[in-house]
Amino acid sequence: MAHQIIIQPSGHVLSAEPGETILEAALREGFTLPYGCRNGSCGVCKGKIIQGKVDYGDHSDEALTADEKKSGSALFCCAIPLSDLIIECDEIDATKGIQIKTLPCRVQKLELVAPDVMVISLKLPANQRLQFLAGQYIDILLKDGKRRSFSLANPPHDDELLQLHARNYPGGAFTEFVFNHMKVKDILRFTGPLGSFFLREAVDEKATSIIFLASGTGFAPIKSILEHVFYQENKRNHKRKMILYWGARTKADLYLADLAASWQQHENFSFVPVLSEPLATDEWKGRTGLVHEAVMQDFETLANHQVYACGAPAMVKAAYQDFTSHRNLPKDAFFSDVFTPSTSNPSSATQNDPKIT
Ligand SMILES: Cc1cc2nc3c(=O)[nH]c(=O)nc-3n(C[C@H](O)[C@H](O)[C@H](O)COP(=O)(O)OP(=O)(O)OC[C@H]3O[C@@H](n4cnc5c(N)ncnc54)[C@H](O)[C@@H]3O)c2cc1C
Ligand code: FES
Repeated sequence: MAHQIIIQPSGHVLSAEPGETILEAALREGFTLPYGCRNGSCGVCKGKIIQGKVDYGDHSDEALTADEKKSGSALFCCAIPLSDLIIECDEIDATKGIQIKTLPCRVQKLELVAPDVMVISLKLPANQRLQFLAGQYIDILLKDGKRRSFSLANPPHDDELLQLHARNYPGGAFTEFVFNHMKVKDILRFTGPLGSFFLREAVDEKATSIIFLASGTGFAPIKSILEHVFYQENKRNHKRKMILYWGARTKADLYLADLAASWQQHENFSFVPVLSEPLATDEWKGRTGLVHEAVMQDFETLANHQVYACGAPAMVKAAYQDFTSHRNLPKDAFFSDVFTPSTSNPSSATQNDPKIT
């Protein structure tokens, strides 16, 4: 039996089909709620059940604790309505009108840019374009029905080819195929665009600076966002200050460092590369340590900032906790895409803080 869901505070009404999660129902009816992993690991989709009952679904205990369940929270990507519901969460208008499509595409180019990072360029059929917001991702559909999420690294204005930055995970169903068997002209299928990791307006655009924080291939969606910002810069009458902190183990892992450095021609942008385990042969004279700790060292307060963090779950979790607890970053000024494994078993996952938004 279908169940009615009322979203507060907007008052929007939708209907969930039997077995559908709240998020699935909302996306199908054109309402975007915040979400990231869609497998109960990241906590981005958390909201309140004001009235009614849900099956909480299979999720990480860290992303939704027992206490949070008691106080009425649920992860909307896993929660299935068991009755009519009234829920509370922020809706995102920006993606309204952007159609989520399933499309075929052809591998146009494969570039090994670091020992374990492949840049994959995908071409859509001649009559197709993918409308998306800079920072969103797509799901590659594998033959056995599995899905693998990858962020779009090209900006929306440069959409002739879709670009993905894939890290090689040993034993990874998709990435092992990419690194060992994928060839130019192979055909893939994907669904997208997905996700809510994109640039938000600030209440006071002049006063609010932006910190981008990437680890490894977490650079991909940030590249898309920054290239789009630079493209649109002339249309805006003021420029927000932006800093990119990009962390990796060794110099080779900062696979597009020259590109990031070249963006410093924009007076409002600076780039801070950070290596956690530089090799002697790297002759590294730059910053070392954990990437989010470099931000902690550079800023006494983040009160007038927005932070966009993307990449490894441990990095995103530490950044959220330290920035909000010790640097006055407002909780609603932290945005993240957590690169959780698609195969993660939610109940054993040690993913990020449930409060990450
Ligand atoms: C919203 C979103 C966007 C993403 N964007 C990107 C992107 O742009 N580039 C990118 O490289 N990755 C990205 N990821 C992560 C990527 O989807 C996963 O790493 C995916 O599982 C890799 O697929 P696979 O088939 O190669 O590995 P799987 O078959 O899923 O996993 C194989 C093994 O590798 C481990 N593993 C896989 N992924 C990870 C990981 N991320 N961290 C730690 N261990 C892992 C698994 O635990 C497992 O043991 C994104 C994830 C999300 C949720
Ligand atoms: S989107 Fe629901 S937990 Fe990640």
